[in-house]
Amino acid sequence: MARTIQIFDTTLRDGEQAPGCSMNLQEKVEVARQLEKLGVDVMEAGFPAASPGDLAAVKAVAGVVKNSVVAGLCRALDKDIDAGWEALAKAAAPRIHTFIATSPIHMEYKLKMSPDQVLERAVAAVRYAKRYCSDVEFSAEDASRSDPDFLCKVFAAVIDAGATVVNIPDTVGYAIPEEFGRLVQYVKEHTPNIDRVKVSVHCHNDLGLAVANSLAALVHGADQVECTINGLGERAGNASLEEIVMALRTRKDLFDLTCRVDTTQIYATSRLVSQVTGVRVQPNKAIVGENAFAHEAGIHQHGVLANRATYEIMTPESIGIPRNRMVLGKHSGRHAFEERIKDLGFTLEPQAIEEAFQQFKILADKKKVVSDRDIEALIAGTTATVPETYRLDRWVVNSGSTMSATSTIRLAHKDGTIHEYAAVGDGPIDAAFKAIDHIIGKEPDLEAFELGAVTGGEDAQGEATVKIAYEGRRWNGRGISTDIIEAAIKAYIAAINAMEWELAAVANGNGTKREVSQGV
Ligand code: KIV
Ligand code: ZN
Repeated sequence: MARTIQIFDTTLRDGEQAPGCSMNLQEKVEVARQLEKLGVDVMEAGFPAASPGDLAAVKAVAGVVKNSVVAGLCRALDKDIDAGWEALAKAAAPRIHTFIATSPIHMEYKLKMSPDQVLERAVAAVRYAKRYCSDVEFSAEDASRSDPDFLCKVFAAVIDAGATVVNIPDTVGYAIPEEFGRLVQYVKEHTPNIDRVKVSVHCHNDLGLAVANSLAALVHGADQVECTINGLGERAGNASLEEIVMALRTRKDLFDLTCRVDTTQIYATSRLVSQVTGVRVQPNKAIVGENAFAHEAGIHQHGVLANRATYEIMTPESIGIPRNRMVLGKHSGRHAFEERIKDLGFTLEPQAIEEAFQQFKILADKKKVVSDRDIEALIAGTTATVPETYRLDRWVVNSGSTMSATSTIRLAHKDGTIHEYAAVGDGPIDAAFKAIDHIIGKEPDLEAFELGAVTGGEDAQGEATVKIAYEGRRWNGRGISTDIIEAAIKAYIAAINAMEWELAAVANGNGTKREVSQGV
C-alpha cells in the first residue's frame, strides 16, 4: 500500500520572507483558509517573534484553522518560543518549530558558537518548547552543509528532549538529488530513536533543484516535505507544493507515495497567493503557469484533439481548471456569479459577494466578456484590505508630446475631509503620484512599478502593482481598472494606505512588520 506523506506548507512564513511578498493579517487568514481547503497537513503561519504584527497574524490564523496543524517558527531562544506559544496557544493543533544552524560555516561566522554550544542550545530549546506544546519540530539549519555525524548527534539529542519532527533543510539550495537522498537515508540509519519521530525535508531552489531534491528525499524515506505555493520563498524560492504533489500523483507508479492534498484546489490556491502577494506566476511555470496546459504548435494541437494523452500527462481539471465554462457578461445574474466565485475557490462573506457583484456589473458594462482573471482581480479588491486612510475621489491627467504632464487628484480622507492638488510631472503617472505625495505630506520612494493586463484583448483591464519605501520600511499596492492610469493611481493609493495603517500602528505602540501589502 502507498505510504502517506505529510505536506507542510510554509507559504505564510518562508514564502512571505521573499522580497515584496509580505502579507497583512487579513491576507494571511484568507490564504490560511484556502490552504486548509487544499488539505495541507501543516501550515507554518509565520515567525511570531519577528514583530508584534507577525505574532498577531499567526494568532489570527491559529484561531480559524481547524483541520491542519498550525506551526510558528522560533529561533532556539526562550523569548522566541514564548512569543511562538503566545501566538499558537489557541490553535486546534499547534506546533512549535524551533531551529538552529549546524553547519561549520554558520556556527563559526553567524552564531559564533562551538558545536557543543549549538547542541546544548538545540536541546534546551526543544525542552523549553515542550513545556508549552506536545508537538515540537526541530530544524538543523544548513543541514546539507553540516557534518552528517554531527547532524545525527544533534537529532538524537533533540529526540531525547522530546522533538516530534526533525527537519533536514537544504537552506542554501546547494544539494544535488542523489546526494540529498543519501543524506536522508544516512540520518535515518545513524540516528538513535529516529523511528520515534517524523523526518522532514525543506529545500530551497538556488540551483533549480528544490523539487527534485524533495522527491529524492521522499524516496529515501522522508515522512514530511516542506514547500510553498508557486514556489515562493527566500531568494530563488522553496520547493513548489503543486509540483511535488502533482509529481507524486502523476508518477504514482514510480513513487508509491500519497498525501491528503485535494489537487482540484491547487489552481485556486495558486491564483489567490499570486493576487495577495502581487507576484505573478511565470507563464511557463509547471502546473500553474498560464501556458502549462496550452498547446500552440499545430502538430501538438492535432495530437491533443485526437487524444489528449498524446501531449497531456495530467488534466487541467485535476488541478481545478474546469473546461468549457459558461461565459459571464452583463446579462449574467447573481446566481451564476456566485457559483463562479465558488468554482474559483473563494469563500466570501455575503457583504463581500454583494460588493464584488456590484463591481462585476460595472465591469460587465465596459467589457463584453468578464473572464475568470477579471473576477479574481475584482475579488482581490473587495477582500483582504487594510483600512483605507485615503480613497480616490476624482482624478484628471493632461499629457502630450508638446506639453508637461499635469494631474489633479482629489482624495477623501477617512475623517471626512476632501483634499485636492494639481502637480506637474515627467509623464501623467509621475504627475499623479506627485499630487498624491503633496496631499499626504510624505514622499515615499517608488521602488518598483509594473503595469500589465489582467487578460488579453483590447478591452482588457489594466493591472498595476507598486512597491514604495519610506523610512526603511516597504509596502506593496495593487490596482485594477479598465483605464491603466486609474489602475496605477489606485495601486499607489493602496500602498499609501498600507503605509499609513502601519505607521499609525507603530505610533500607537503596535508596530507591525517590515512590509505590508494592500489590495486594489
Ligand atoms: O531554509 C531554512 O533552513 C529554513 C529553516 C528555518 C527551516 O527556512
Ligand atoms: Zn527555508
